[in-house]
Amino acid sequence: MKLGRAVGFIVLGTGLFAVAAKAQDGGALYNTYCAICHDAGRNSPAPAREELGRMTPEAILQALKTGSMKAQASERSRAQRRALAEYISGKPLPAQPAVVSSSAFCAGSSGAPGDRRTNAGWNGWGAGITNMRFQSADVAGIGARNIPNLKLKWAFGLPGATSGGTQPVVANGRLYVGDAEGDLFALDAKSGCVVWHDEVESGIRSAIMLGADSGGGLTAWFGDQAANIYAVDARTGKLLWKVKVDDHPQAAITAAPAFYAGRLYVPVSSREEAKVADPRYPCCIFRGSVLALDATTGKQIWKTWMIEGKPVAGQKNSAGTVVLGPSGAAVWNTPTIDVERNVLYVGTGNNYSPPATALSDSVVAIDMASGQIRWHRQQTANDIWNGTCRRADREAAACPDAEAPDVDFSVSPVLVKSVDGRSMLIAGNKSGMVWALDPGQQGKTIWTQQAGKGSSGGGVLWGLAVDGERVYVPNGFFDAKSPDASGGMAALDLHTGHLTWSTRNPPCGDRKFCKPSHAAAVTAIPGVVFSGTMDGQLYAYSSETGQILWRFNTAQDYSTIDGVAANGGSMSNAGATIVDGMLYVGSGYSHHGGVIPGNVLLAFAAN
Ligand code: HEC
Repeated sequence: MKLGRAVGFIVLGTGLFAVAAKAQDGGALYNTYCAICHDAGRNSPAPAREELGRMTPEAILQALKTGSMKAQASERSRAQRRALAEYISGKPLPAQPAVVSSSAFCAGSSGAPGDRRTNAGWNGWGAGITNMRFQSADVAGIGARNIPNLKLKWAFGLPGATSGGTQPVVANGRLYVGDAEGDLFALDAKSGCVVWHDEVESGIRSAIMLGADSGGGLTAWFGDQAANIYAVDARTGKLLWKVKVDDHPQAAITAAPAFYAGRLYVPVSSREEAKVADPRYPCCIFRGSVLALDATTGKQIWKTWMIEGKPVAGQKNSAGTVVLGPSGAAVWNTPTIDVERNVLYVGTGNNYSPPATALSDSVVAIDMASGQIRWHRQQTANDIWNGTCRRADREAAACPDAEAPDVDFSVSPVLVKSVDGRSMLIAGNKSGMVWALDPGQQGKTIWTQQAGKGSSGGGVLWGLAVDGERVYVPNGFFDAKSPDASGGMAALDLHTGHLTWSTRNPPCGDRKFCKPSHAAAVTAIPGVVFSGTMDGQLYAYSSETGQILWRFNTAQDYSTIDGVAANGGSMSNAGATIVDGMLYVGSGYSHHGGVIPGNVLLAFAAN
C-alpha cells in the first residue's frame, strides 16, 4: 500500500502506521539524499551503489544509525533508514522490533478523552491561535510562588531519537509529542504511561494541533519532514487522512499547522538550503508556501507561494552546475490567526539563490478566505543565503554575497491587544531585532528594538512570549570565543518597545559544553518566564525583574518511565508547556547548532 506519495493524493481511513517503512520509496530517498555522492562516478571517495549493494541490509542500517553515514542520515526517520537499507541491499530486513515495550503502556483503560475542549490545556505551537506562548494562571496551576518547589516527576525516553521532541501538547489529561524518528506518542499527562503510539514516514518536528472534528470527536493534525500532513483520531491514534502538500523532495513541515473554523493552515519549509553545501547540487528550486486544507478531508482549498514566479536556469557556478532561481522564502513558523481581520500572518525566510524576491525575510498577511496576500513587510532585502556561503571556496554563483545575513523570520508573529485595545503584531528574527507592527495599517511599524545580538544561528530563533505587558525575548547568539557573553534573556515593554530588563546567564564554570544561547522558544505564565539553553540549562525568570527564580540542568542521564535509555542535552525549537500544575519540556537537540544530542521529555510538578 502506498500512502499518498503523489501530491494531493488522499488516503482515507486506512488505519495503521505499521506500514510506515513499507510505504516509503527507498529509490526516491536514495536519489534525494545519497546519489549526489554515491552515484558521482569513479573519482568520488564514496563507494558506488553496486558496492553498497553487496552489504547486508543490517550493515547498511548500522552505518546510517551509528556508523560512518550517521551525519548524512541524521535527519532521516527510523522508517526511512530501513527503506534505504532494503532498497540498497535489495533484501528485506527482519520485522522491526517493538518501538514501545509493552510495560510502557498504561495499565487498564486510561479512559477516552470524552471531552472535546482543547482550551483547557496547551494546544499547537503557541498555546492558542495568536501564538502568545502565554498560559493563564488557572490553566497553568503554577505561579511565581511555587516555582521553587518544582521537582522532576518523571522522564520519558524517545526511542532512538537524538532530539527531545516537539512542543508538548496537553488536553483532557493527555500529552501528545512527536519526534525525529517519526514517532507520535499519546501519554497520560500525569503519569507518562503510553496510551497509544504511531509511527509515520518521516520525522515530526511540528507540534500537534488538536481540534473538534465534524464527526464529534477530537482530531490531532501534524506534519512531517517529508511534507505530509496527517489527521489522526486523538483518542486512538487511528489515521484519518494523509496528504502530501509539496512535491519538492526536500520540502518539510517544520512548524505546526494552525486550525481555525474547519480549516488547517499549513506552513511549508525545506532542507534544500542546506543541501547546497555541495556545489554539484543544482541550487535551488524550492519555494516557500502556505496552504489552507479542509480539516475534515485534507482537501486543498488554496496554496499561496511566497515567491511568485517559478525558478528558471541561470548561470553555471564554478563547479559547472547550473544555478536555478528564484528560490527560498521558506515558512518555518506556525501561522497566527487574526479572527477580526480574517487574515493569517507568517514570517518568511531568506532566498536560497538569485534573484532576490520581495517576500523573503518578511512578515506576510494572507487573506484566510482566498489565500491572497493582503500586505507584507520585508525587513531585510537581498538576503540570498545557502549552504555554500559557509565554504571557504564559496561558489560565486550559488552564493552571490558572502555577507548575506541569513536572518529568517523563523518565529511565529504574535498577535496581541494593547491596553488601549489596539492590535499589535510582534515579530522577531535571527538578527535579534523585534518589531511591533500595526495589523490595522498594513503592518506599519509601531516600534522596533534591537533586543540582543543576531547571527545566522539567531538572534530570536524559535519563539517569543508575550503577556499583556511585556515581550519576552530569548537570544540565541553564540560567540565561541566568549561563551559567557552569549545568549541571555530580555523583556521589552509591549507598548513602547523599551527594554524593561535583560539578564545574562550565570557563568558556565566548568560545564563541559558551554553554549548558553537561548535558542528554544520561551513560555510565559503570570509572573514567570521559562527559557532553555543550548547547553541544557532551563531557567525560570521573574517576568517583572528578570531575576532567576529557578534553574535545572536538563543535560543529564535519566531513568525513564518507559525503560528507554535517555539523556537530556541542548534545548532548541520547542519550549516548555505548562498545564495543571505540571511543566513539560523536551531536552536534547542535534540540528542547527545543537551541541548535546538527547532524547528525553521531562515532566516537573510543583507539588
Ligand atoms: C557527502 C557525500 C555522501 C552522502 C550525501 C552520502 N554518503 Fe554514504 N558514503 C560517503 C563516503 C565518502 C563513504 C565512504 C567513506 C566512509 O565510510 O566514510 C560512504 C560510505 C557509505 C556506506 C558504507 C559504510 C560502511 O560502513 O562501509 C554506506 C552504507 C553509505 N555510505 C550509505 C549512504 C546512504 C544510504 C546515504 C543517503 C542517506 C549516503 N550514504 C549519503 C559519502 C556520502
